[in-house]
Amino acid sequence: MSVRQRQAGTDRRVVDLAARLRVGLVGAGWFATRRHLPNLQSHSQVDLVAICRRDQEKLGLIADHFNIPGRYRDFDDMLHSERLDAVVIATPHSLHYPQAKVALDRGLHVLLEKPMTLRAREAEALVEKAAEGNHVLSVALNPPYWPHTRYARDLIGEGTIGQVEGISIQWIGNSEGVFGLAPLPDEMPGLVKPSLYRGDHALSGGGHLMDTGSHLISEFLWLSRMRPVKVAAQMDDTKLDMRIGLQVCLSGDVHAGINCVGNSSFDGRRIRNVYYGTKGTLTIEGLPFSVTIDLQGRGSIQKLENEMDEAPGPVEDFVLAINEGREPASTGRHGADVVRVLEAAYRSAESVWK
Ligand SMILES: NC(=O)c1ccc[n+]([C@@H]2O[C@H](COP(=O)([O-])OP(=O)(O)OC[C@H]3O[C@@H](n4cnc5c(N)ncnc54)[C@H](OP(=O)(O)O)[C@@H]3O)[C@@H](O)[C@H]2O)c1
Repeated sequence: MSVRQRQAGTDRRVVDLAARLRVGLVGAGWFATRRHLPNLQSHSQVDLVAICRRDQEKLGLIADHFNIPGRYRDFDDMLHSERLDAVVIATPHSLHYPQAKVALDRGLHVLLEKPMTLRAREAEALVEKAAEGNHVLSVALNPPYWPHTRYARDLIGEGTIGQVEGISIQWIGNSEGVFGLAPLPDEMPGLVKPSLYRGDHALSGGGHLMDTGSHLISEFLWLSRMRPVKVAAQMDDTKLDMRIGLQVCLSGDVHAGINCVGNSSFDGRRIRNVYYGTKGTLTIEGLPFSVTIDLQGRGSIQKLENEMDEAPGPVEDFVLAINEGREPASTGRHGADVVRVLEAAYRSAESVWK
């Protein structure tokens, strides 16, 4: 039982909204210092009480910067020593499952970075464990938290383009730096630069598809509200894949085709995701992101992301989900569906004829 539920008595449905949520974070690295720690620190209903990473010097630097009292080099030590309600997990991919499991076992709510786990059975086990304990389990995939994807999902859900019949996802950019395949830029947002764990298969579980591809898979599953049924994939290399062709068959025999390039020589990132419906076409383009709806002779509308309603980020939504006793925007079930596709894609690419 969490602290705020204890404060509110034994009934788990009664939550004391005046109580601040005591949150710890493990994996205080590049992305945590860029997004989660600033969001936790500035949240009016959160006490950011502890962080964890192994490097002593960077731990001190980050804790001093964000004024965090609890500093740990071992996750179990943090869980044993601190009185926490929730944890944010932003470590390398292979640590997500064991760390989320131990946190849920201790009765904590969990906000987990993507990919949720490396294996579908691990993701399913976390979903079950969170449901048994009535804990919020959320996965920080981007599409459920971006204004343009929320806007596009609403339009598709309202039937604006009719029934989705086919999907095409194109992401052509360059991520070689974070894999150790090219120098990292001198200037990067965040207090510390990323470690190069993405280049270590034991920690990452895969290359560009595992990393950026998680968001792309999340996008078409979340926007279409369909479940994955069958997967076929080809990759240049199944350990450090930079070039990926992926075909996902969704419920209702709708096919989503993904073309993903992580080592493009073009200067810039080109994104073009098209949802073909029975009454029109919805296209997401970036960067910057925009959504265009073409209604086959009945007009076309384009909206830039900065003209859309703001969306709560993963931390804000996670806290609301805990306080309001509702599901987060990106659920464990959604995270697990993304992992099912990832796992099947690597299996398919391993077995493909060359
Ligand atoms: N949603 C997004 O758009 C987005 C963007 C970037 C990253 N991410 C995700 O965020 C996560 C972290 O990525 P990142 O780029 O921030 O990588 P990173 O800079 O390498 O951060 C990972 C952190 O985990 C710590 N760590 C490693 N092993 C640990 C252990 N056994 N116990 C405790 N801490 C440990 C590392 O510090 P020590 O080595 O000092 O322990 C490091 O600070 C990944 O899941 C990634 O996919 C998401």
